[in-house]
Amino acid sequence: MVLEQAKKLVTPSNEERRKLERVLEEALSRVRRAVDELGFDAEVVPVGSAVRDTWLPGNYELDIFVLFPKVVGGKDVLGELIREIAAKAFGEYVQNYAEHPYVMVRLEEFDIDLVPAYRIGKGERIASSVDRTPLHNSYVKSKLRSPTEVRLLKAFLKSIEAYGAEEKVGGFSGYLCEVLVIYYGSFLEVLKAAKDWQPPVCIDPEDHLGEEYASVLFPRDPLVVIDPVDPRRNVAAALTLTQFNRFRIAARAFLINPSIEFFERALRPPRVRIRSSVVEEELGRRGTHLVVVELSKLDEPDNLSRELLWSQAKKLGRILGDELRKHGFDPMWSSGWTDESSTIVVAAEIPFLLLPTLERREGPPVGMRDEDNFLLKYVGSEVTLGGPSIREDRWYVFRRRKYREATLIVSDIFRGQRLPSILRGRAKIRVLTERELASLGQWALNEIWKELKKEEFFVRLLAEGLERGQ
Ligand code: UTP
Ligand code: MN
Ligand code: MN
Repeated sequence: MVLEQAKKLVTPSNEERRKLERVLEEALSRVRRAVDELGFDAEVVPVGSAVRDTWLPGNYELDIFVLFPKVVGGKDVLGELIREIAAKAFGEYVQNYAEHPYVMVRLEEFDIDLVPAYRIGKGERIASSVDRTPLHNSYVKSKLRSPTEVRLLKAFLKSIEAYGAEEKVGGFSGYLCEVLVIYYGSFLEVLKAAKDWQPPVCIDPEDHLGEEYASVLFPRDPLVVIDPVDPRRNVAAALTLTQFNRFRIAARAFLINPSIEFFERALRPPRVRIRSSVVEEELGRRGTHLVVVELSKLDEPDNLSRELLWSQAKKLGRILGDELRKHGFDPMWSSGWTDESSTIVVAAEIPFLLLPTLERREGPPVGMRDEDNFLLKYVGSEVTLGGPSIREDRWYVFRRRKYREATLIVSDIFRGQRLPSILRGRAKIRVLTERELASLGQWALNEIWKELKKEEFFVRLLAEGLERGQ
């Protein structure tokens, strides 16, 4: 019942299909014309969900590959050639770097990924990560019987915020969804299997390696899916343990309490506008505090790519957490986000903004080699407020804390050497606490709210289902 409703929901209308086909044709002919006029020896092929019929309604995104013979040169050359083509065919373009150079262009309401790669035949060596993509096309087209099943899985994953292999998400790529549906047979079979997954899970659809050997090749990945077109590649390489487990639980929730919400959220994301006063009140109720850093004006003098902004945001979130912990502020969480154009916001929730001057520092075990250095450092030092002294088998010292105020740590990190060099000198930096949240962008307030509440709709549905089952 829910599934029947969901199938309708995730299937694009005829009107939408016609629009996509028209824009894809237009884009292809523009690119082909540009390739001809520039006199390149290259083949232009549409790839991705648009040609496999696995795209979701409202997903106005197209993927076009331009395949060059290997002799043209390395990655830099590919990047240069694709920029020339993009400029000629579309005028404007945005450059993006994942592990491979590509550009994004716009045509009507569509975002188009224009990706240069090498032309490779069957059995030929794959030189760069994107060379397999055209092979994915033929694999999926020959094996996938029902694209609707893939759409269900994509919508499901999008709803639980686990769709996408980019760093921001660390989830399931479109191709992974396709391979899982091909392997297990249907959306429902994928879910039934996933609810019992125990990591590491190994799947080798084409029996390239055998599942035991596959898990040895990728020892750290919770899910190993050997790429049917390239045995050296784990299709699920980007999947984090958190997203792996989120999917397991969401699958279980759906199976015991199916709800259209598992698909609807992907297509009609609930609109939230959290006000700063609400965040402030919530912090009051929790008795905690927030330190927030805003790095703005990152689009000057030139634009940084979306991937790069996300990886920096995530990394700064980790650095902030580590430094706060190191200096005794014991964060509940720390994280970082970006508006994908000019701004990164990093935040952490901490129990207090101010610590006492005194810090108790643990030293080496009594009688060990490091003891001498410890004593030489602290006896008579101006930072020492008591000791060094012995308790049981260890040395301790009371010393003056380096940072009493959380905001000072934060200013030091973000103005100093810990700031990655690509952001240094470029960003305008503001450090704020919960009293100044009103000046943050709405998107950042929403992210902070999500982090505070950690509410997942499927956890509520799971609990409902469990209650009913008792
Ligand atoms: P997309 O990210 O556009 O995915 O990559 P998609 O399959 O078209 O799905 P949606 O509907 O847009 O979300 C296009 C193709 O590039 C290859 C895959 O073959 C994919 O279908 N690709 C992309 C990868 O192999 N790995 C990736 O991490 C990303
Ligand atoms: Mn796509
Ligand atoms: Mn794409």
